[in-house]
Amino acid sequence: MTTAVSAPLPQRICCIGAGYVGGPTMAVIADRCPAITVTVVDLNAARIAAWNDPDLSRLPVYEPGLDQVVGRCRGRNLFFSTAVEEAIAAADMVFLSVNTPTKTRGLGAGQASDLKWVEASARTVAKAAQGHTIVVEKSTLPVRTAEAVKAILGAGVAGKSFSVLSNPEFLAEGTAIGDLEHPDRVLIGGDDPAAIDVLAAVYAHWVSPERILRTNLWSSELSKLTANAFLAQRISSINGIAAFCEATGADVREVARAIGADSRIGPKFLQAGPGFGGSCFQKDILNLVYLCRHYGLEEVAAYWEQVVRLNTWQQHRIARLVVTRLFGTVTGKRLAILGFAFKADTNDTRESPAIRIARDLLEEGAQLMIVDPKVSERQIGLDLGQPAGEGEGSWRLVASVEAAALGADALLLLTEWEQFAALDWMAIAAVMRQPAWLFDARGRADEAAARAAGLNVWRIGQG
Ligand code: UDX
Ligand code: ADP
Repeated sequence: MTTAVSAPLPQRICCIGAGYVGGPTMAVIADRCPAITVTVVDLNAARIAAWNDPDLSRLPVYEPGLDQVVGRCRGRNLFFSTAVEEAIAAADMVFLSVNTPTKTRGLGAGQASDLKWVEASARTVAKAAQGHTIVVEKSTLPVRTAEAVKAILGAGVAGKSFSVLSNPEFLAEGTAIGDLEHPDRVLIGGDDPAAIDVLAAVYAHWVSPERILRTNLWSSELSKLTANAFLAQRISSINGIAAFCEATGADVREVARAIGADSRIGPKFLQAGPGFGGSCFQKDILNLVYLCRHYGLEEVAAYWEQVVRLNTWQQHRIARLVVTRLFGTVTGKRLAILGFAFKADTNDTRESPAIRIARDLLEEGAQLMIVDPKVSERQIGLDLGQPAGEGEGSWRLVASVEAAALGADALLLLTEWEQFAALDWMAIAAVMRQPAWLFDARGRADEAAARAAGLNVWRIGQG
């Protein structure tokens, strides 16, 4: 259902959580709604300091175009602060945009989402809010989380009241600003029509009314999990077919083009690769699996679980085939890893396929020379569970593909950064140890040029 909007606007918005979702989303709201004061708060003082850094190239989240949006609004009607309670008290609308990773211990470990940060922030809202406050769930949450949020808020002191809405964010990293400025749809779930109108009025500044969808709370929460599950399922489907193409002599790009021309299937999200990464897909599917099991739907749970299994298999498969083609051993060999972020145009490495592939190769004793234009050495060390070093089973971050290729037996293209699409293959091949390989897990390199330079080439999904 869609409706035209003419509700009052909130005057002050507070967003709890200055991460990949909260930061860009609030920056765009502030940019599009100059009359609303938006304050993004976080307990992490270093993160807030980075959001306030006068040098816009040092914001904690790398997103193309984000620096310009922040540059236009920061200090005008966009503020970043650690004064969480103060900002909540002043706000008439509070977004919960905190992290909800998969639980690592206890009931549901490995599958259920850990809601401790959601619960903690809801308690802070219950304590600090004044008068009537609209509380908006922005983080991706398991179905019926709003019930818990409502229960926590309901236990507050007399004189305070709350409306809880679900407004899941569909932005993808790397294209966040475009996704926020031109969303396919904005979804608002809730049971208080007046509160829904207020939030819809915010988006109506730049989103046309027919794209603002209203549902009940549970449909909204479940739509987000379902959208991510469907998207991830497409990637596992095409990756499974890629492996089959390699075995049979078909080419997955030709297959993708052929099936994508069917308007019922469509051409997007059919790029075979090293498996999906990012903070959402795996977490949300595992959460869906956990919830289906909870409701006794074993077959449904097993169906979705397979999407994640295939993704993990794909990552191990790539590491394995590298070892196999390098005569069964990579011990002491130098391997260049092109890209560590989970996709291009982001500094985020959460669940990046590069992590599992690199860990497998380190386990085999390889020396990895990693190149990534945005990921820090510190982050790679955290992800690989060991600091940079030398010798067997070690890794180093280097500044250029040429430096990574020096003396290497193979290059692995793992992230589709634009700069990896047009490399000088003659110059690169010249500094590698022969026979040398290019393993193109993204299918993005200029294969003909690499072959002309004398490299052996393996390309995802090419038989
Ligand atoms: C995803 C959803 O797209 C977004 O709507 C949701 O809000 C959050 O989760 P994100 O994880 O940021 O966004 O990036 P996305 O572009 O969806 O890519 C996810 C992973 O799938 C990446 O590792 C990407 O490389 C991979 N991918 C994507 C493919 O391997 N092939 C494709 O065709 C598309
Ligand atoms: P996402 O990708 O969903 O934005 P991030 O991990 O990037 O997730 O960001 C979530 C942010 O929420 C983190 O910076 C974290 O410090 C912050 N956060 C978590 N719990 C609270 C809380 N109770 N109060 C304030 N900030 C919080």
